[in-house]
Amino acid sequence: MNIGKLKLDGNLILAPMSGVTNLPFRLLCKKYGAALVFSEMACSEAIVRQNQKSMKRGFTCVEERPMGIQLLGSDPDTLASSADIMQETYSPEIIDINLGCPDKNIIRNGFGSALLNDPEKIGRITEEISGSVNAPVTAKMRITDRLEETCKIARRIENAGAQALTVHGRTQKQGYSGKSNLDFIKAIKRELSIPVIANGDIFDEKQAMHVLEYTQCDGLMIGRAAIGNPFIFQRLSCYLNKGEFLSPRTFEEQLDDFFAYEELCRKYDLLAYSDLKLKAHWFLKHKQNIKSVREKINGAKDIDSMMSIMREF
Ligand SMILES: Cc1cc2nc3c(=O)[nH]c(=O)nc-3n(C[C@H](O)[C@H](O)[C@H](O)COP(=O)(O)O)c2cc1C
Repeated sequence: MNIGKLKLDGNLILAPMSGVTNLPFRLLCKKYGAALVFSEMACSEAIVRQNQKSMKRGFTCVEERPMGIQLLGSDPDTLASSADIMQETYSPEIIDINLGCPDKNIIRNGFGSALLNDPEKIGRITEEISGSVNAPVTAKMRITDRLEETCKIARRIENAGAQALTVHGRTQKQGYSGKSNLDFIKAIKRELSIPVIANGDIFDEKQAMHVLEYTQCDGLMIGRAAIGNPFIFQRLSCYLNKGEFLSPRTFEEQLDDFFAYEELCRKYDLLAYSDLKLKAHWFLKHKQNIKSVREKINGAKDIDSMMSIMREF
């Protein structure tokens, strides 16, 4: 799959996820075959104020290329300036616009999925950013209740210069309830000439194949299924390319992924107690009968004692 001038080695993409897709996690997904990975959303207003926490969301390294930085905001000029700053600082291969976040605090500011009420503004934002950076600009949207209106927004995004569009087939109101609407995604794919990436509820091989075949989309974006399970990318690409199911991952292999995550956090100076504790639980999420280990992890006072519990385990 190509996004503008960018050639991707595959069509499985890691979704931007706040609190999840930091550099170490993205590197693991890359190792298992994600063709493109996205940063957590970074707020444009904070970036133009040089807020370090927001700036760091774009932190990258050569091993993870190509990568995309996702921006959140609503003012076209501020978004364009923040895109410029991120390009200057990190040279991402893609700049993505968040048109989907349903969080109340975000939509109160007119960001994320709130923009779907104002297609003209979406157009101006896309034009301004496309005009100010060299990297291809993409957008990630939710759908609205009405198909025609959703397709109109998608067309506006394409006409304003976006080089690909990801569609999560749920409305803002749905949050994560119900199912991702594949009929809307299919209709948008038919409507546009740029690549369309389907997103929502892809948790296994069969669903991945079904979504690709049904919507005829160019790529798939994987979110929640990758949490604590970056190996999902290898599993899905093996099935999509060769029709083969890989055997279930052993528990030791899952633990190895967690240790690899910890090592990468150390390497890139991103090690934090609360993050590591949360990730320890995620990497153990499908393991049964380990209540006492989970309790020990919760009780660990520092990173070293948490890592000893995981190693003993
Ligand atoms: C913890 C979490 C954080 C998320 N953060 C973002 C974000 O920063 N930007 C964004 O566009 N979507 C974000 N999303 C939405 C996902 O990118 C994706 O669209 C959604 O989870 C549906 O895909 P899935 O069913 O594969 O999880 C987030 C989702 C989760 C679960």
